[in-house]
Amino acid sequence: MKGKKFYIETLGCQMNKLDSELIAGMLANMGYSATDYADDADLAIINTCSVRQHAELKALSKLGHLHHLRRKHGKPSTIAIIGCFAQRSPEYIRKHASYVDIICGPADLDRLPQLIEDARNEKKQIAVSDFRAIRSGRQKYPERLESLDTNRIVNKNQRQAFVRVQRGCDKFCSYCVVPYVRGPEQSRPPEKIIDEIRKLDNVGCREITLLGQTVNSYHCVENGKTVTLADLLYRVHNNCSVPRIRFVTSYPADFSTEILEAMAKLERICPYLHIPAQHGSNRILKLMNRKYSVEQYIELIDTARKIVPNISIAGDFIVGFPDETDDDHQCSLELIKRIRYKNCFIFKYSVRPGTLAEKKFSDNIPDEIKTKRFIELQELQDKIALEDNRNLIGQTLDVLVEGISKKSKTNPSPDGKVQLSARTTDDKIAVFDGTEDLIGQIVPVRIFDVSSLTLFADTV
Ligand code: 5AD
Ligand code: SF4
Repeated sequence: MKGKKFYIETLGCQMNKLDSELIAGMLANMGYSATDYADDADLAIINTCSVRQHAELKALSKLGHLHHLRRKHGKPSTIAIIGCFAQRSPEYIRKHASYVDIICGPADLDRLPQLIEDARNEKKQIAVSDFRAIRSGRQKYPERLESLDTNRIVNKNQRQAFVRVQRGCDKFCSYCVVPYVRGPEQSRPPEKIIDEIRKLDNVGCREITLLGQTVNSYHCVENGKTVTLADLLYRVHNNCSVPRIRFVTSYPADFSTEILEAMAKLERICPYLHIPAQHGSNRILKLMNRKYSVEQYIELIDTARKIVPNISIAGDFIVGFPDETDDDHQCSLELIKRIRYKNCFIFKYSVRPGTLAEKKFSDNIPDEIKTKRFIELQELQDKIALEDNRNLIGQTLDVLVEGISKKSKTNPSPDGKVQLSARTTDDKIAVFDGTEDLIGQIVPVRIFDVSSLTLFADTV
């Protein structure tokens, strides 16, 4: 295998980014090296998302491009589509992108080395799990999958890392495809999580983000006792010296006060929650099969702010859900005003085949109205974030430098200085001019100006 090259492109969420990183390590172990050029690769992988239709169309267009390169240059020799779209639509992909060599779902990624080997001998390889059979108990959950995370190859320069604590989701929000493509909720054993974090700590990792689709419902039985997310936070904090520990994404129901108390007590747990409300109307929340009311959500955020001072809150909202009225939409605007989020990810409802909403409701909000409501939420959120960020002007904050900012990448300054992009403990983005050797370090900066999403700073 020596001398082979792989190319990998990742669409979608942080879970996919982590999967791609783990796969890159696995391929390096097999003797592959990474390339940024698909037409120079022996193996090209697209790691896909299914959460909205747009993401699937993007994956198909990327596949089409790889096919075009192969016809023109003979490379990439092997084309693989992996992740959520591969899991959801293997037959569709086989039919409409028949040149694809490997189709592999998120619960089968540990099998990639064998699939790559087999794809060289036989034509097409398809590996997707039967989550229905697993949910009904007819099949066992594929424990082999653990090896993907436990065999993680840690890069010695790694300063930020995702660590999976939970797989899948059992919530079945009516609009969402995740429970179907990532399978049933499974919490990873705490000792495996700690082992992985120790490896990252040993190379000087500065920030760890614990990942789960509904991370606060983490629970794992160990010696007859249940370990909760709050317990896990204490354990992680006590077993590593990583200066920043975060966890995402939280589900508003079953969020315990113990988690907030752990955040308040443990100084290296970052004061930040990504906790999507999805909507501000109880009527729509019910149709969405979200198991909480707006009042409960507000009470939870108020409690979080009481127990963890200066906590920042990020959220997600969906506009244009079936039957959403102007009054319902007003309720989302009201909730955004009431919560004052640090930032919100706002999405236009996209009907997903196989979900409860697809079966029960019609996608009856015209796209122009979805767009109008989207813009209204976004503008309100931007206004609030700008007001709140203005209070930071003049303050000095510690930031973890993540890399060179987009602006500097596209438009480098002639004096060799770069604009660096960094993050505060409560997840705000700060940019400042500095030298590249600061990347990966935590440094104090002084804020002199702000926009709704960016703090502009100077080194102190
Ligand atoms: N349409 C639009 N947005 C969706 N999300 C999940 N499913 C859909 C869908 N069908 C959004 C939710 C979720 C985020 C990851 O994507 O807001 O929190
Ligand atoms: Fe999807 Fe709901 Fe699970 Fe989040 S909690 S992944 S929105 S089903």
